[in-house]
Amino acid sequence: MLRVEEKQEVNFSADLLNKFGDIVGRYPDGKQKSALLPILHEVQAVYGWVSPEAMDKVAEFLDIQAIEVYEVATFYTMFFLRPQGKFVLEICRTGPCNIVGAEKIADYIGEKLGVKEGEVTADGLFSYRGVECLAACGYAPVLQIGPEYTFHENLTKESVDQLIEDLKRKN
Ligand code: FES
Repeated sequence: MLRVEEKQEVNFSADLLNKFGDIVGRYPDGKQKSALLPILHEVQAVYGWVSPEAMDKVAEFLDIQAIEVYEVATFYTMFFLRPQGKFVLEICRTGPCNIVGAEKIADYIGEKLGVKEGEVTADGLFSYRGVECLAACGYAPVLQIGPEYTFHENLTKESVDQLIEDLKRKN
């Protein structure tokens, strides 16, 4: 995955622009804005996040206002608006998970990784953040890990230790 530092110029590759073109082609003429969500997913898949510079380029490509891209990218929480680790641990922080210790698990992850929510570990591998209900309340506390969105349920400190070790090995 490419990594774009803040303020760095973004130049989409020919392959990526071709993908954008294919996506736009799914929609009727003049409705190219409908391609915005899938295009933002493509951008995030390549760069790991959606930078302001990337959003500006997407707006240019789609011939829409930059604010129209910002509105969408900042509304949907699946888009990262700052650089993230290779693995993003997303811990459910909604009631049922919190009742059985999700908050403590999140604190433990932060301590273990040595970062605050939204920060990236020095090795670039990990970030974590709280998210709303992941629809697995019966198995709380729960987290999912992007970019593949694997689910991990009935979390304990021990299972978190194992999970992080497994991810390090996988890297
Ligand atoms: Fe955590 Fe629903 S409250 S998965």
